[in-house]
Amino acid sequence: MPRIRVEVDGVTYEDDVEPRLLLVHYLRDRLGKVGTPIGCDTTNCGACTVLFDGMSVKSCSVLAVQADGRGITTVEGLGTDGTNHPMQRAFHEEHALQCGFCTPGMILASIDLLRENADPSEEEIREGLEGNLCRCTGYQNIVRAVRKAADEMRQPAQSEVAP
Ligand code: FES
Ligand code: FES
Repeated sequence: MPRIRVEVDGVTYEDDVEPRLLLVHYLRDRLGKVGTPIGCDTTNCGACTVLFDGMSVKSCSVLAVQADGRGITTVEGLGTDGTNHPMQRAFHEEHALQCGFCTPGMILASIDLLRENADPSEEEIREGLEGNLCRCTGYQNIVRAVRKAADEMRQPAQSEVAP
């Protein structure tokens, strides 16, 4: 059985894994990262999205062995210093969720979207998140939340502004 060494939410794990084990099952069943939901069997919904070396991937479409030597961030790795990530705050403040099932994937995909485009238009946000489905159809508020987080994340930190 292959042995992998992977950093997940800032913690390094070493494990023997079946070659066919999906990353999402490794995260949930081995590491207890149940904040990463499974919404489909067809790599369609995006609920299982995580950051893989900073880039969003659907963790049900990646094998755990492919994560060897890589860094994974799940929604549980955000805001661990006691303050929410700006994207988490914006989703909260803009009521960008109803049942919340799609939310971890939406938040992580949105963070990756802003990594590539710090000031996306509404159109670009909708396009960038097209791989993430919300069955509660809360897209309007999700787009608003991403715009809000983008505005906040482009602001220079207070310390940089202070003379
Ligand atoms: S569970 Fe991975 S895309 Fe739906
Ligand atoms: S908030 Fe329910 S699926 Fe998106």
